Amino acid sequence: MDKFYVTTPIYYVNDKPHIGHAYTTVLADVLARFHRSLGIPTFFLTGTDEHGQKVEKAAKLRNEDPQKHCDDTVERFKDLWKRLGITNDYFIRTTNADHKKVVQEVLQELYDRGEIYKGDFKGHYCVGCERFLTEKDLVDGKCPECNREVTEIVESNYFFRMSKYQQWLIDYIESHPKFIMPEFRANETLGFLKKELKDLCISRHKSRLSWGIELPFDSDYVCYVWFDALINYISGVGYKKDEEMFKKWWPASKHLIGKDILTTHSVYWPTMLKAMNVEMPETIFAHGWWLTGREKMSKSLGNVINPMDMVDKCGVDAFRYYLLAAMAPGQDASFTEESFVKRYNNDLANDLGNFASRVLKMTLRHSSGLINKPAEFNADDLEVINAVKAGKAAMEKAIAEMKLDQGIDSVMEIVRAGNRYMEKTAPWTLAKKGETARLETILYTAATAVYHVSVLLSPIMPEKMAELQKVLGTAVSDRIDLLDADAQILVGCTMQDSDPLFPRLQEEAAPAPAPAPKAEKKVEKKAPAENVVDLISIDDFFKTQLKTAKILEAEKIEGADKLLKLKIEVGSEIRPLVAGIALYYKPEELIGKTIVIVANLKPAKIRGVESCGMLLAAKNGNTLKLITTDGEMASGVSIG
Ligand code: ME8
Ligand code: MG
Repeated sequence: MDKFYVTTPIYYVNDKPHIGHAYTTVLADVLARFHRSLGIPTFFLTGTDEHGQKVEKAAKLRNEDPQKHCDDTVERFKDLWKRLGITNDYFIRTTNADHKKVVQEVLQELYDRGEIYKGDFKGHYCVGCERFLTEKDLVDGKCPECNREVTEIVESNYFFRMSKYQQWLIDYIESHPKFIMPEFRANETLGFLKKELKDLCISRHKSRLSWGIELPFDSDYVCYVWFDALINYISGVGYKKDEEMFKKWWPASKHLIGKDILTTHSVYWPTMLKAMNVEMPETIFAHGWWLTGREKMSKSLGNVINPMDMVDKCGVDAFRYYLLAAMAPGQDASFTEESFVKRYNNDLANDLGNFASRVLKMTLRHSSGLINKPAEFNADDLEVINAVKAGKAAMEKAIAEMKLDQGIDSVMEIVRAGNRYMEKTAPWTLAKKGETARLETILYTAATAVYHVSVLLSPIMPEKMAELQKVLGTAVSDRIDLLDADAQILVGCTMQDSDPLFPRLQEEAAPAPAPAPKAEKKVEKKAPAENVVDLISIDDFFKTQLKTAKILEAEKIEGADKLLKLKIEVGSEIRPLVAGIALYYKPEELIGKTIVIVANLKPAKIRGVESCGMLLAAKNGNTLKLITTDGEMASGVSIG
């Protein structure tokens, strides 16, 4: 890879940034830091989306000039990014003169080439989403996105010939599997493209909206805010301004977005680029939503958690760690204070904190902190060294595949291996016995593991990992490309005593502010405080194929009191199935019952008898009841 260019959405300037915005930006920051730490030239762009109806309205409400309103509110984002240690190379605002000029040049060029034309628009408009909608788009006469009332509209407008790129886009997505990720989002886009793609209305009449970039060929109109906003990804790296810079960074390596803005990025943006004759970005990656309980965290639902509050209470690095460790990119995740405290205490205070502190305390006691040259390694040492190598490789792979949560887990596996190693080798007893050479080898090996963890987690927790490196007595480094488990870099370093890096949090002194009552009331009963990892997506659920099945035969299995051997019918198929229900059902009671089975379970041999599938039953103490259908139902029918 010769360069890495990563972007976040440009956020609506008058929104108050919440955990969702913080997540995308921290994710981009971690990717940027990782690539820099591998020695790869990196550009990281974020910014704010400042035109459009919502901003105009908000400014009016404050009795303020829209530009002044943007200048005030943009600070909320800038302050938060500073607080979160975000290392963006440029912050783009769509009201920048440079950006506006590029948008006008693009509009003019497309207009001159006939890619933009004037036509009549009849339809509906959703003010909230700033979208024109046709009759077909509406759901119960309302906006399909936000469910709000729409306004009926007939007027002349300018259109971008998006429809002519429909087939090209389908082919492009199909032939570029990394273009839209995760894969199911590419499929979602292809599904959307099965319907006829319409031309895109890219103008707004000034009588309705004046806060926008004026069309260069018709001063009665301003540009549609999405058309303006998407162009930030190229205007931010010099398009039509600094060709050398543009050539250096474009195409983007990753556009990170939330799944809420998939279509604008996977349909509008590629067709716009195609019309401009600009190369496609490599990957558009849509992550899932942070939820409060089961609802999307959003300002309009009144259930947002303020990232600044979290940082005040737990520190920047713990917050960054949590965001990345607790969400599988692509899936939704639920933010709860319990899951935050639990993860912090488990991973950071217990696992990592204990490992580092054990190594530190032993080394201070034994050699006033000096790390000595190791003797020959034995199998125990090699196990840790191998865990270090595996953790590093897994993290690099996880970055490439956008599975950061898994990468973090592999690094934490080094820590867990380190703690096991300390327990197994018990260096404190070796110290008592005076086995110095062995003791020093163990302390060296453990310190090396801590050092590797500190470098690998630097992009995620830059401040804390730099502190940890000071404890180790090494120079501060985040250079993953310079890591080498065999290089003995720690020999001769002197460890420095310190307070615990991650003091334990009290579970009851939970750090997160309680969500606003409105959202809480709704989710209180349905959603007991789940741990994030317990929530699954609908796709996860459907990995389990549940089907109806009819029991044809049932008999006891010789020598196994609890088991029954069944013959079941699943549609046209007959299968053997072994079930542990002999204490609750007599074989003859079962014949003819329609039950529910997991149909895609790997076949297994139980007491030498083949079993294909598993039946579902509810067990409570000494009672067991089979799950059956409520009335007649054929066998082999899917359940879900
Ligand atoms: O859509 N969970 O801006 P926006 C996870 N200006 N991520 C979330 C989230 C949540 N609950 N809520 C917001 C816009 N986000 C346009 C973008 S780009 C050319 C123009 C994050 O302020 C996520 O990245 O509504 C989502 O896509 C983005 O904020 C939307 O920010
Ligand atoms: Mg939004």
